[in-house]
Amino acid sequence: MEKHTHDIAIVGAGMAGLRAAIAAAEHSNKLDVAVISKVYPVRSHSVCAQGGTAAMLREGDSYDLHAWDTVKGSDFLADQDVVEQFVKEAPEEIIKLDHWGCPWSRTDDGKIGQRPFGGHSFPRACFAADMTGFHEMHTLHGKAATFENITFYDEWFVTSMIIEENVSAGLTAINLKTGEMQAFQSKAVIMATGGYARVYEFTTFSHTATGDGMTMAYRAGVPLKDMEFIQFHPTGLVPSGILITGGARGEGGYLVNSKSERFMKNYAPEKMELAPRDIVSRAETTEILEGRGLEGPYGPYIALDLRHLGEEKINERLPLIRDVAIKLSGVDPVDEPIPIRPAAHYSMGGISANIKTETDVPGFYATGECACLNLHGANRLGTNSTSDCLVFGAVAGQEAAKYVSSRGFKELPQGKIVAEERRVFDDILGREGDERVPDIRDELRRIMSENVWVFRRGGELQKALKGVGKLKERLRQIRVEDKGRVFNTGLVDALQLEFTLDLSEVTVASALARTESRGAHTRRDCPKRDDENWLKHTLAFFTKEGPRLTYAPVTITKWPPTARAY
Ligand code: FUM
Repeated sequence: MEKHTHDIAIVGAGMAGLRAAIAAAEHSNKLDVAVISKVYPVRSHSVCAQGGTAAMLREGDSYDLHAWDTVKGSDFLADQDVVEQFVKEAPEEIIKLDHWGCPWSRTDDGKIGQRPFGGHSFPRACFAADMTGFHEMHTLHGKAATFENITFYDEWFVTSMIIEENVSAGLTAINLKTGEMQAFQSKAVIMATGGYARVYEFTTFSHTATGDGMTMAYRAGVPLKDMEFIQFHPTGLVPSGILITGGARGEGGYLVNSKSERFMKNYAPEKMELAPRDIVSRAETTEILEGRGLEGPYGPYIALDLRHLGEEKINERLPLIRDVAIKLSGVDPVDEPIPIRPAAHYSMGGISANIKTETDVPGFYATGECACLNLHGANRLGTNSTSDCLVFGAVAGQEAAKYVSSRGFKELPQGKIVAEERRVFDDILGREGDERVPDIRDELRRIMSENVWVFRRGGELQKALKGVGKLKERLRQIRVEDKGRVFNTGLVDALQLEFTLDLSEVTVASALARTESRGAHTRRDCPKRDDENWLKHTLAFFTKEGPRLTYAPVTITKWPPTARAY
């Protein structure tokens, strides 16, 4: 089997992966960095980020204000040392992107434009119209391409991590063009594979968001943290689920029920539509459940009204969502409200890593949405995620670069590589059962959507856990129709489904155990936040019998938990 050798292997070429690659390559031109991605980099899900990237840039704002908003938004589950470092490093990242050519929207006097966003008490979302992620990604990809010491492996699907004597040694990956499995030997691995919101049907996420890196780490013995906390974005376009940016509310959009009421006055009288996402999504769901949703061919929905902003502002600030609403919902927001409802959007949880992005396995780092550094706690604020990718992508690149400078390569054990090749091609591709991957995937999405959504109950979570267990059994009986090797998307779908089943199981088990309501995890049967028993992070370890849960304390520096009202 062919082997590729690089000092650092980065899995994922979204915002965090590219930022990590640039930081590592800049650290020393002697370092040899590989970026391995299952899609061409600028097709990574990060390009779908719309509304902005949070950073303290202006007088009137402060590090402490950004940190406080983040901590309160997190329902006090964020580690405050991580938050403090994050807010201090975010501004520099914005300026770097500016220098690298990111076409930020500007104020009349030429400064980087910033708009209000949910949960932030100052307009600090730097934006490029409503295509912020698209422009940031093209800027990062362009910059990364200037480094001779970065090699891109586009359209390679990583299947497993190799850890030898508890040290990261490399990876196995399929070159999708040929279907061959090959090994990557590296002194450090940085996982930057993004989230897994595709375990839901109604989601703002790309079909590629299947949490691959999280599962690979979990199976290799690294715990997943705080996986019960899934964010539901208040404005998923009906019926597709495509993101309608929170920037639309930042620019002044209203949320309206069937009685033409701006109902947020009953849930967050001060912040209204600009309350954090967990609160707005619960409010919308309550309106719908209590019969005040609007009726449409795809079920009840809420109206996002932008008409009062006027065509000129919509065209300047929100051109993408106007286009998307017209094309995918047949609604022009200049003339009519946009039909929306909460959509699965983000995972606050992920691979357990510290403030330096280090995991418990030396040489293995995690960054971006696939990681949980305890930055977002129980609920992330909008526009803190792209800043997270930039700040902690850079940290991961720098830390890995420092680490590899004094380390040698570990030998890759042939036995493990051969076993992985057999697992993928002989076992999974070789299965001849009568189950189909899309059927199991649809059933998983149904189970998660019906039982593990905005509001949860113990009984429903139990049902979901059982349901996911049955799907894992059914997966043993699949047959992938395409038995070839070249661009076998059927095989990729099967591998991704396997990853998402593990992640769903961890999510449900963690949610079932947490008998309180905090941030995006709302239990109807345990409606109160319970700091005495639950001000702690959940850690889930892989065992053959299912996840084993333990807990870890939350770091409080300046802001002890208080009641959370907006
Ligand atoms: O609403 C949005 O534009 C999404 C931003 C985010 O998730 O940070």
